[in-house]
Amino acid sequence: MFKKALLALPVALALGATAHAEKPPEEVLQDLIESTDSPYLTQSEQNLMMMADSPAMWTAMDGEDLFNTPRGPNNVSMEACDFGKGAGVLEGARVELPRYFEDTGKVMDLETRIVHCMTEVQGFAPDDPAVARRHGSGSDHMKIQTYIGMQSSGMEWNNPLDHPLEIAMRDAGEVLFARRAGKADFNCYACHGQSGKQVRASVLPNVKVPEEWTKAISWPAFRVGHDNVRSTQHRVRGCYFQMRQAGMKAGTDASIALISYWTDQARGQPAIMPDMKR
Ligand code: HEC
Repeated sequence: MFKKALLALPVALALGATAHAEKPPEEVLQDLIESTDSPYLTQSEQNLMMMADSPAMWTAMDGEDLFNTPRGPNNVSMEACDFGKGAGVLEGARVELPRYFEDTGKVMDLETRIVHCMTEVQGFAPDDPAVARRHGSGSDHMKIQTYIGMQSSGMEWNNPLDHPLEIAMRDAGEVLFARRAGKADFNCYACHGQSGKQVRASVLPNVKVPEEWTKAISWPAFRVGHDNVRSTQHRVRGCYFQMRQAGMKAGTDASIALISYWTDQARGQPAIMPDMKR
């Protein structure tokens, strides 16, 4: 990985020229650190040092190719797809998801919208590996998500709350966040409701401190411990597992409701795209 990290810098520079990364993620994080004294934001000195050479840049570069190449039975590129800001417009798209889409009548998150684009626009079957493989830096999903994500780096979280369904989903997510269940009787607040809480060596982010919470929800992120780029939906699944509750299914309304609420909690704070986590 070290070798990769050394190589990533020129790649990142080359990519910056085409992919419009707004503000490098390590700078976004550094500015947040200077405006707070959050133990969560500063917990990994190693990550702060490595961030500028994040292997996620490779993932994003592969994503750029995938995004712009005509693919699937319909042989069209993803430039034909609308991620909320018009066909092919990616700048600022990530920080305004989840949002309501007229064409499906649903509130959708980034992952669900990519699935929609692959199946409805490009014509892939739902069980095609391009659509079905959601995890790992090698998956099309993580490549495309990382590419789309970095074009919102430094932009403020601002998922729209205009449509009644957007409001209903945010509100449902708030209920889910507070809902205690399972043999440990945990809810999300049990671990994310106060600053400076720890599970072993991990300092946990507080949902009520937007400067911390923006880092918490900045996915895709390179997870050093997994040696892979991970998604929002992967994190949701992980925290339900940590609560010893039944697995949350990716793409369900419940998962998107939770993500709508957690995005609303970081509103106005800059996204760190792609982030690097322990
Ligand atoms: C038992 C404690 C616990 C509970 C309860 C819990 N989490 Fe977490 N959460 C963690 C830990 C620990 C991490 C840090 C990542 C790791 O080391 O796995 C984390 C990380 C996160 C992150 C990403 C922060 C980061 O820097 O990686 C988010 C977002 C998150 N949790 C959301 C939730 C949500 C939503 C719920 C409720 C569905 C929840 N968590 C419930 C322990 C918990």
